Amino acid sequence: MIENPLVPQVAEIKDVVPETEDGDVKTFVVELENDSFEYRPGQCAMLSVLGEGECMISISSNYAAGAPLEFSVQRVGRVTAALHELEPGHRVGVRGPYGNSFPLDDWKGKNLLFIGGGIGLAPLRPVINRCLDRRDDFSEMQLIYGARTPGNLCFKRELYDNWSENPDLDVFLTVDEGDEDWDGAVALVPHYLEELAPASEDTVAITCGPPIMIRFTIEALQRLGFADADIVTTLELKMQCGVGKCGRCNIGSKYVCVDGPVFTNEQLKSVPQEY
Ligand SMILES: Cc1cc2nc3c(=O)[nH]c(=O)nc-3n(C[C@H](O)[C@H](O)[C@H](O)COP(=O)(O)OP(=O)(O)OC[C@H]3O[C@@H](n4cnc5c(N)ncnc54)[C@H](O)[C@@H]3O)c2cc1C
Ligand code: FES
Repeated sequence: MIENPLVPQVAEIKDVVPETEDGDVKTFVVELENDSFEYRPGQCAMLSVLGEGECMISISSNYAAGAPLEFSVQRVGRVTAALHELEPGHRVGVRGPYGNSFPLDDWKGKNLLFIGGGIGLAPLRPVINRCLDRRDDFSEMQLIYGARTPGNLCFKRELYDNWSENPDLDVFLTVDEGDEDWDGAVALVPHYLEELAPASEDTVAITCGPPIMIRFTIEALQRLGFADADIVTTLELKMQCGVGKCGRCNIGSKYVCVDGPVFTNEQLKSVPQEY
């Protein structure tokens, strides 16, 4: 057991799964060499590539017992581009898990409305699967998920082979721009949400995606009557230490790496709007 939370464990990449047709998002299936890794849905970990640096990535594993550890990474800059060059057999550093997690016990007896955009489905995947495992604890479950194009939808295996076939989860997909094979909705996620107009009563909405999508989704949820305490989101501020020591991720008195990344909109209203 590694006691120092800043020391990375060594992990071997077992598989690399392309998520999007443009290759910009890949899921890395990894196996730690020495240690166990107990995490809760919503937590993240710092991945390191030798000679390049580290980046914070949500744990996107499917959360089933014995399921491998997975991280889904969008290529945006130095470290994520270096990660995308790696192949099975290569090694990365993994330190964590960090952060709080989705408060599933607070949601008992409620309807759950998951709303994701693009790579924002990554932290939602373990929590959706955990809630499906605990089916009897919750009422109706819905997922609204969107991406720029059909080719940019992530986790297609999960979406089409698992969730869409599951009678306990209603799945609604949308894209900003369709193609000749797409016969689903064509609308931005917040617009599609308002069109579907799910009931707000006894419902918790959990949303994750690009900051602009989250902003308009929260506004749409408020118009639909959702209370701020029933709107849950994750913040992705830049991070360095991940353990509340460096101050890189603070908003007001909160450190997103320790107090978050999961917050209700009620909690976010009490901190400076610096995210
Ligand atoms: C709690 C948390 C969970 C995250 N989960 C995921 C995930 O599951 N998958 C994923 O692909 N990414 C995730 N991110 C974002 C990821 O950490 C950044 O994309 C990554 O650190 C960029 O590193 P880089 O060296 O490749 O980019 P850099 O070369 O450092 O920067 C490239 C560009 O990305 C922007 N950028 C850098 N860091 C962030 C950040 N934290 N948020 C937004 N923009 C950033 C920079 O401003 C710059 O425009 C998460 C971030 C946090 C804090
Ligand atoms: S990343 Fe260092 S305090 Fe949060």
